Amino acid sequence: MLEDPQTRELDRVRTWLDNAKHVVFFTGAGMSAECGIPTFREAQTGFWARFDPMELASPEAFKRHPEQVLQWYAERRAQALNCAPHAGYRAIVEIEKSRRVTVITQNVDRLHQRAGSRHVAELHGNLITESCFKCEAVDYSQPNLNAPYQRYCKSCGGQLRPSIVWFGEQLPAEQVLKAEDALLTCDLLFIVGTSAAVYPAAAMPQLAKDAGAKIVLVNPERTEHAVLSSVFLQGAAGVVLPALLDRMNETA
Ligand code: OAD
Repeated sequence: MLEDPQTRELDRVRTWLDNAKHVVFFTGAGMSAECGIPTFREAQTGFWARFDPMELASPEAFKRHPEQVLQWYAERRAQALNCAPHAGYRAIVEIEKSRRVTVITQNVDRLHQRAGSRHVAELHGNLITESCFKCEAVDYSQPNLNAPYQRYCKSCGGQLRPSIVWFGEQLPAEQVLKAEDALLTCDLLFIVGTSAAVYPAAAMPQLAKDAGAKIVLVNPERTEHAVLSSVFLQGAAGVVLPALLDRMNETA
Protein backbone atom coordinates (compact mmCIF):
# COMPACT_ATOMS: atom_id res chain seq x y z
CA MET A 1 0.00 0.00 0.00
CA LEU A 2 1.49 3.39 -0.96
CA GLU A 3 1.94 5.47 2.14
CA ASP A 4 0.89 9.09 1.92
CA PRO A 5 3.83 11.50 1.44
CA GLN A 6 3.43 12.86 4.97
CA THR A 7 3.92 9.41 6.51
CA ARG A 8 7.06 8.88 4.46
CA GLU A 9 8.34 12.31 5.49
CA LEU A 10 7.44 11.62 9.13
CA ASP A 11 9.51 8.42 9.03
CA ARG A 12 12.42 10.26 7.45
CA VAL A 13 12.35 12.81 10.28
CA ARG A 14 11.97 10.06 12.88
CA THR A 15 15.21 8.50 11.63
CA TRP A 16 16.97 11.83 11.95
CA LEU A 17 15.57 12.23 15.46
CA ASP A 18 16.73 8.73 16.45
CA ASN A 19 20.30 9.67 15.49
CA ALA A 20 20.30 13.29 16.68
CA LYS A 21 22.53 14.32 19.58
CA HIS A 22 21.20 17.89 19.92
CA VAL A 23 17.76 18.96 18.67
CA VAL A 24 16.57 22.58 18.53
CA PHE A 25 12.91 23.64 18.33
CA PHE A 26 12.61 27.23 17.01
CA THR A 27 9.03 28.30 17.72
CA GLY A 28 6.66 31.18 17.01
CA ALA A 29 3.09 32.19 17.78
CA GLY A 30 1.68 29.24 15.81
CA MET A 31 3.01 26.95 18.57
CA SER A 32 0.49 28.54 20.95
CA ALA A 33 -2.42 28.90 18.48
CA GLU A 34 -4.07 25.61 19.55
CA CYS A 35 -3.85 26.77 23.17
CA GLY A 36 -6.17 29.66 22.27
CA ILE A 37 -3.59 32.46 21.97
CA PRO A 38 -4.14 34.24 18.61
CA THR A 39 -1.14 34.55 16.29
CA PHE A 40 0.00 37.98 15.15
CA ARG A 41 -0.35 38.03 11.39
CA GLU A 42 -3.05 35.62 10.41
CA ALA A 43 -5.35 37.45 8.02
CA GLN A 44 -7.68 39.68 10.05
CA THR A 45 -8.28 37.18 12.84
CA GLY A 46 -4.74 37.78 14.14
CA PHE A 47 -3.93 39.67 17.32
CA TRP A 48 -2.79 42.78 15.49
CA ALA A 49 -6.09 43.01 13.59
CA ARG A 50 -7.65 44.77 16.59
CA PHE A 51 -4.65 46.79 17.70
CA ASP A 52 -2.05 49.08 16.17
CA PRO A 53 1.18 47.45 17.44
CA MET A 54 3.07 50.73 17.27
CA GLU A 55 0.48 52.20 19.66
CA LEU A 56 1.10 49.43 22.17
CA ALA A 57 4.38 47.54 21.74
CA SER A 58 7.00 50.34 21.75
CA PRO A 59 8.89 52.46 24.31
CA GLU A 60 7.33 55.59 22.76
CA ALA A 61 3.83 54.19 23.34
CA PHE A 62 4.70 53.39 26.96
CA LYS A 63 5.99 56.94 27.52
CA ARG A 64 2.88 58.40 25.86
CA HIS A 65 0.20 56.31 27.59
CA PRO A 66 1.65 53.78 30.09
CA GLU A 67 -1.76 52.76 31.50
CA GLN A 68 -3.09 51.70 28.05
CA VAL A 69 0.08 49.69 27.34
CA LEU A 70 0.04 48.06 30.80
CA GLN A 71 -3.66 47.24 30.44
CA TRP A 72 -3.06 45.50 27.08
CA TYR A 73 -0.23 43.40 28.51
CA ALA A 74 -2.22 42.60 31.66
CA GLU A 75 -4.96 41.18 29.40
CA ARG A 76 -2.39 39.19 27.38
CA ARG A 77 -0.80 37.91 30.62
CA ALA A 78 -4.19 36.81 31.98
CA GLN A 79 -4.91 35.07 28.66
CA ALA A 80 -1.55 33.26 28.72
CA LEU A 81 -2.03 32.18 32.35
CA ASN A 82 -5.48 30.85 31.42
CA CYS A 83 -4.03 28.60 28.71
CA ALA A 84 -2.42 25.17 29.06
CA PRO A 85 0.36 23.72 26.85
CA HIS A 86 -1.01 21.28 24.23
CA ALA A 87 0.34 17.82 23.30
CA GLY A 88 2.90 19.38 20.93
CA TYR A 89 4.63 21.04 23.88
CA ARG A 90 4.58 17.76 25.79
CA ALA A 91 6.06 15.94 22.79
CA ILE A 92 9.07 18.30 22.89
CA VAL A 93 9.50 17.59 26.62
CA GLU A 94 9.28 13.82 25.94
CA ILE A 95 11.94 14.05 23.21
CA GLU A 96 14.16 15.92 25.67
CA LYS A 97 14.14 12.79 27.92
CA SER A 98 16.41 10.92 25.51
CA ARG A 99 18.60 13.62 23.93
CA ARG A 100 19.74 17.21 24.34
CA VAL A 101 16.97 19.66 23.37
CA THR A 102 17.09 23.46 23.25
CA VAL A 103 13.94 25.49 22.64
CA ILE A 104 14.36 28.93 21.04
CA THR A 105 11.08 30.81 21.16
CA GLN A 106 9.79 34.15 19.92
CA ASN A 107 6.75 33.64 22.15
CA VAL A 108 6.32 35.46 25.45
CA ASP A 109 3.68 33.19 27.04
CA ARG A 110 6.13 30.80 28.83
CA LEU A 111 4.09 27.78 27.76
CA HIS A 112 7.27 25.84 26.90
CA GLN A 113 8.53 26.25 30.48
CA ARG A 114 5.10 25.38 31.91
CA ALA A 115 5.12 22.18 29.82
CA GLY A 116 8.49 21.22 31.36
CA SER A 117 11.09 22.32 28.78
CA ARG A 118 14.25 23.09 30.75
CA HIS A 119 16.49 24.82 28.17
CA VAL A 120 14.55 27.73 26.67
CA ALA A 121 15.96 30.87 25.02
CA GLU A 122 13.31 33.64 25.00
CA LEU A 123 14.21 36.01 22.15
CA HIS A 124 11.33 38.46 22.72
CA GLY A 125 11.05 38.45 26.51
CA ASN A 126 8.08 37.25 28.55
CA LEU A 127 4.65 38.38 29.72
CA ILE A 128 5.02 37.12 33.27
CA THR A 129 7.71 39.31 34.84
CA GLU A 130 8.09 43.10 34.69
CA SER A 131 11.29 45.16 34.61
CA CYS A 132 12.25 48.74 35.41
CA PHE A 133 11.96 51.16 32.49
CA LYS A 134 14.88 53.14 34.02
CA CYS A 135 17.43 50.70 35.54
CA GLU A 136 16.18 47.47 33.83
CA ALA A 137 16.09 45.58 37.17
CA VAL A 138 13.69 42.62 36.85
CA ASP A 139 10.73 42.46 39.25
CA TYR A 140 9.67 38.84 39.77
CA SER A 141 6.68 39.59 41.98
CA GLN A 142 3.51 38.62 40.10
CA PRO A 143 1.67 41.84 39.15
CA ASN A 144 -1.80 41.71 40.73
CA LEU A 145 -4.20 41.71 37.78
CA ASN A 146 -6.75 43.70 39.78
CA ALA A 147 -4.37 46.23 41.35
CA PRO A 148 -3.66 49.53 39.54
CA TYR A 149 -1.41 48.64 36.64
CA GLN A 150 1.41 51.11 37.20
CA ARG A 151 3.99 49.68 39.62
CA TYR A 152 7.41 51.06 40.52
CA CYS A 153 10.94 49.66 40.80
CA LYS A 154 11.95 48.70 44.34
CA SER A 155 15.56 49.82 43.80
CA CYS A 156 15.29 53.07 41.82
CA GLY A 157 11.59 54.02 41.85
CA GLY A 158 11.37 53.89 38.04
CA GLN A 159 8.17 52.73 36.28
CA LEU A 160 7.84 48.97 35.88
CA ARG A 161 7.07 47.74 32.32
CA PRO A 162 6.44 44.29 30.84
CA SER A 163 9.67 42.32 30.23
CA ILE A 164 8.82 42.24 26.52
CA VAL A 165 11.16 43.26 23.69
CA TRP A 166 9.31 46.16 22.04
CA PHE A 167 9.62 47.38 18.47
CA GLY A 168 12.91 49.26 18.15
CA GLU A 169 14.50 47.54 21.15
CA GLN A 170 17.48 45.15 21.14
CA LEU A 171 16.95 41.44 21.81
CA PRO A 172 18.41 40.34 25.18
CA ALA A 173 22.08 39.58 24.48
CA GLU A 174 22.33 36.54 26.77
CA GLN A 175 19.26 34.94 25.15
CA VAL A 176 20.63 35.60 21.65
CA LEU A 177 23.99 34.03 22.58
CA LYS A 178 22.20 30.99 24.06
CA ALA A 179 20.16 30.64 20.86
CA GLU A 180 23.12 31.10 18.53
CA ASP A 181 25.19 28.53 20.43
CA ALA A 182 22.36 26.01 20.17
CA LEU A 183 21.84 26.65 16.43
CA LEU A 184 25.57 26.24 15.72
CA THR A 185 25.84 22.96 17.64
CA CYS A 186 22.57 21.19 16.82
CA ASP A 187 22.26 18.45 14.20
CA LEU A 188 18.48 18.77 13.78
CA LEU A 189 16.35 21.95 13.80
CA PHE A 190 12.53 22.08 13.84
CA ILE A 191 11.02 25.47 12.82
CA VAL A 192 7.51 25.48 14.24
CA GLY A 193 4.71 28.04 13.88
CA THR A 194 6.50 31.17 12.74
CA SER A 195 5.85 33.31 9.66
CA ALA A 196 9.56 34.26 9.42
CA ALA A 197 8.39 37.89 9.23
CA VAL A 198 10.29 39.49 12.11
CA TYR A 199 14.07 40.04 12.13
CA PRO A 200 16.60 39.42 13.56
CA ALA A 201 14.86 36.27 14.88
CA ALA A 202 13.81 35.14 11.38
CA ALA A 203 17.45 35.08 10.20
CA MET A 204 18.62 32.78 13.00
CA PRO A 205 17.74 29.37 11.46
CA GLN A 206 20.27 30.13 8.69
CA LEU A 207 23.02 29.61 11.31
CA ALA A 208 21.94 25.98 11.73
CA LYS A 209 21.71 25.52 7.96
CA ASP A 210 25.23 26.88 7.47
CA ALA A 211 26.50 24.61 10.27
CA GLY A 212 25.09 21.55 8.45
CA ALA A 213 22.00 20.77 10.53
CA LYS A 214 18.98 19.09 8.97
CA ILE A 215 15.96 21.40 9.07
CA VAL A 216 12.27 20.45 9.37
CA LEU A 217 9.49 23.03 8.84
CA VAL A 218 6.28 22.42 10.81
CA ASN A 219 3.49 24.81 9.75
CA PRO A 220 0.03 24.68 8.14
CA GLU A 221 1.51 26.71 5.26
CA ARG A 222 4.90 27.15 3.60
CA THR A 223 6.93 30.12 4.87
CA GLU A 224 10.20 31.80 3.85
CA HIS A 225 11.95 29.17 5.94
CA ALA A 226 10.86 26.46 3.46
CA VAL A 227 13.97 27.21 1.38
CA LEU A 228 16.16 26.17 4.32
CA SER A 229 14.17 23.05 5.11
CA SER A 230 14.89 19.48 3.98
CA VAL A 231 11.38 18.39 4.99
CA PHE A 232 8.07 20.29 5.29
CA LEU A 233 5.61 18.60 7.67
CA GLN A 234 2.43 20.47 6.77
CA GLY A 235 0.04 20.78 9.68
CA ALA A 236 -0.60 22.16 13.13
CA ALA A 237 2.04 21.91 15.85
CA GLY A 238 -0.39 20.17 18.20
CA VAL A 239 -0.96 17.45 15.58
CA VAL A 240 2.42 16.99 13.85
CA LEU A 241 4.70 16.91 16.92
CA PRO A 242 2.63 14.28 18.80
CA ALA A 243 2.40 12.22 15.57
CA LEU A 244 6.18 12.32 15.31
CA LEU A 245 6.55 11.16 18.90
CA ASP A 246 4.02 8.33 18.29
CA ARG A 247 6.08 7.24 15.25
CA MET A 248 9.22 7.22 17.39
CA ASN A 249 7.55 5.12 20.09
CA GLU A 250 6.02 2.69 17.55
CA THR A 251 9.44 1.87 16.19
CA ALA A 252 11.39 2.11 19.48
P1 OAD B 1 3.01 35.12 13.23
O1 OAD B 1 1.61 35.38 13.63
O2 OAD B 1 3.73 36.11 12.35
O3 OAD B 1 3.08 33.70 12.46
C1 OAD B 1 2.44 32.57 13.00
C2 OAD B 1 2.74 31.38 12.11
O4 OAD B 1 2.17 30.22 12.70
C3 OAD B 1 2.15 31.49 10.70
O5 OAD B 1 3.11 31.05 9.76
C4 OAD B 1 0.95 30.54 10.75
O6 OAD B 1 0.72 29.92 9.47
C5 OAD B 1 1.46 29.50 11.72
N1 OAD B 1 0.41 28.74 12.43
C6 OAD B 1 -0.87 29.08 12.66
N2 OAD B 1 -1.50 28.12 13.38
C7 OAD B 1 -0.55 27.15 13.62
C8 OAD B 1 -0.56 25.91 14.32
N3 OAD B 1 -1.68 25.45 14.91
N4 OAD B 1 0.59 25.17 14.34
C9 OAD B 1 1.72 25.63 13.73
N5 OAD B 1 1.80 26.81 13.07
C10 OAD B 1 0.67 27.55 13.02
O7 OAD B 1 3.86 34.88 14.56
P2 OAD B 1 5.44 34.89 14.72
O8 OAD B 1 6.13 34.41 13.47
O9 OAD B 1 5.75 34.19 15.96
O10 OAD B 1 7.19 39.83 18.50
O11 OAD B 1 5.75 36.47 14.92
C11 OAD B 1 7.08 36.85 15.26
C12 OAD B 1 7.03 38.05 16.16
O12 OAD B 1 6.22 39.10 15.60
C13 OAD B 1 6.38 37.78 17.51
O13 OAD B 1 7.29 37.19 18.40
C14 OAD B 1 6.01 39.20 17.97
C15 OAD B 1 5.61 39.86 16.66
O14 OAD B 1 6.11 41.17 16.57
C16 OAD B 1 7.03 40.42 19.77
O15 OAD B 1 6.00 40.37 20.39
C17 OAD B 1 8.25 41.11 20.26
